Amino acid sequence: MGVGKAHGKIILMGEHSVVYGYPAIAIPLKTIEVECHIRPADQRITFDFEDTLSTAIYAALKELGKTAATITYDIKSEVPLQRGMGSSAAVSIAAIRAVFDYFEQPLDKETLEILVNQAEIIAHTNPSGLDAKTCLSDQAIKFIRNIGFEQLDLSLNAYLIIADTGVHGNTREAVDKVAAAEEANLPYLAQLGLLADQVEQAIKDKDLLSVGQAMTAAHAMLQKIGVSVEESDHLVQVALEAGALGAKMSGGGLGGCIIALAQNQEQAQIISGKLEEEGASQTWIQKL
Ligand code: MEV
Repeated sequence: MGVGKAHGKIILMGEHSVVYGYPAIAIPLKTIEVECHIRPADQRITFDFEDTLSTAIYAALKELGKTAATITYDIKSEVPLQRGMGSSAAVSIAAIRAVFDYFEQPLDKETLEILVNQAEIIAHTNPSGLDAKTCLSDQAIKFIRNIGFEQLDLSLNAYLIIADTGVHGNTREAVDKVAAAEEANLPYLAQLGLLADQVEQAIKDKDLLSVGQAMTAAHAMLQKIGVSVEESDHLVQVALEAGALGAKMSGGGLGGCIIALAQNQEQAQIISGKLEEEGASQTWIQKL
């Protein structure tokens, strides 16, 4: 049997604007895991190139010259699907690792990332590479498309609440929607870039209030480019009314998750309780 593991991610700042070359800040969710198993089978595997997982398996087999392999695969995932928590990237990473493990082949980080991004094209059309990079990282990162990334020291002594609206997001549709109105959206995308820069500075200064304010301002920009939905707007409002320092939708949008910043654990628990009362289907608390 071949086994591969990976973890999810959440975007703190810069979703969508990252596609246009602005910086983004994202956090790995190391405790929310995916595991893929590859086993021998009687028949050759069939591929579905509209499915990210199947495409990831194909990309890995092609790299190894084994597309005619007689194998089968299964996935166990704690990362909810289509909620902006990196399920497509995490599933691809786990699957590619499992294929290489099955054939007892070494897999370097660079090859893994190239293969993941081939699969991500299915989920994203035009992936910036942010999701793959964050799911491959053990630390928060600042990422700029085609330029690179750096690790961020995120010791803020604060808490991030992640709340699932319960509505399936659709990154591909959201990325296409933003692109269809690119000219009108450019000022908002630039503003999202500036807000990500502000958060990077605020993280260095350990200025929680500024991080929170920039998050809420980013949500307004994400509304303007049309990727938020009523359920996300509602949960953002609930979090702010419950005392969050800031809140925004996170990920591709058109559903998915929101995130909210709390200054301590007690406040985080109050906010997550309120979010669940007001319709969040699931919440997670992540120490920053
Ligand atoms: C999706 O998790 C993040 C987006 O910025 C798309 C991308 O970066 O490829 C919406």
